[in-house]
Amino acid sequence: MNLAVFASGTGSNFDAILQAIKEGTLDANVSLLVCDKIEAPVVQKAQRHHIDTVVFNSKCYESKAAYEEVLLKDLQSRGIDYIILAGFMRLIGPTLLEAYEHRILNIHPSLLPAFPGKDAIGQALDKKVKVTGVTVHFVDNGMDTGPIIEQEAVRVEPDDTREAVQKKIQAVEHKLYPRVIQSLPVKEESQ
Ligand code: GRF
Repeated sequence: MNLAVFASGTGSNFDAILQAIKEGTLDANVSLLVCDKIEAPVVQKAQRHHIDTVVFNSKCYESKAAYEEVLLKDLQSRGIDYIILAGFMRLIGPTLLEAYEHRILNIHPSLLPAFPGKDAIGQALDKKVKVTGVTVHFVDNGMDTGPIIEQEAVRVEPDDTREAVQKKIQAVEHKLYPRVIQSLPVKEESQ
């Protein structure tokens, strides 16, 4: 299974995916990192692992369709089976959604449909929930609205700080995402 990871930030999920591949629990290959921020730490992580990286600046294109056309050509020329969003801070447009229907995944730090969008952990803490969690879902044209593939709950204790909740969520994400990716159907020719 040939993967492209799209990320904009730290890349701890990117790392977890690479680690699962190294440990043999995920039978896949990350051929490309796509990032929209040159200063994002995930770019250096990809370079350390000698993974090809495309960094683009959306402001240099006249539209989302324009940069997605360029990305799509690259993804297709590399035979990418799945696009894995891991903290990618842009909505995916029709160009990629149509070409990769049911082949774009996202991970979100809440039990969707609760707390979509930015700062899901902060939203959950503001509501004083006792349980939040992690969702992996297919991407559609909404914000964190696509069909849910898998979820796992995380308990919020009364004295948990934001950092404590974040740490518990991340620990779940780093196990859950590789496991869900491993369960995806693979085309015969890319096995
Ligand atoms: C994760 O919490 C993920 O759920 C959300 O963005 C964050 C990315 O973190 N979509 P990282 O860059 O993988 O550390």
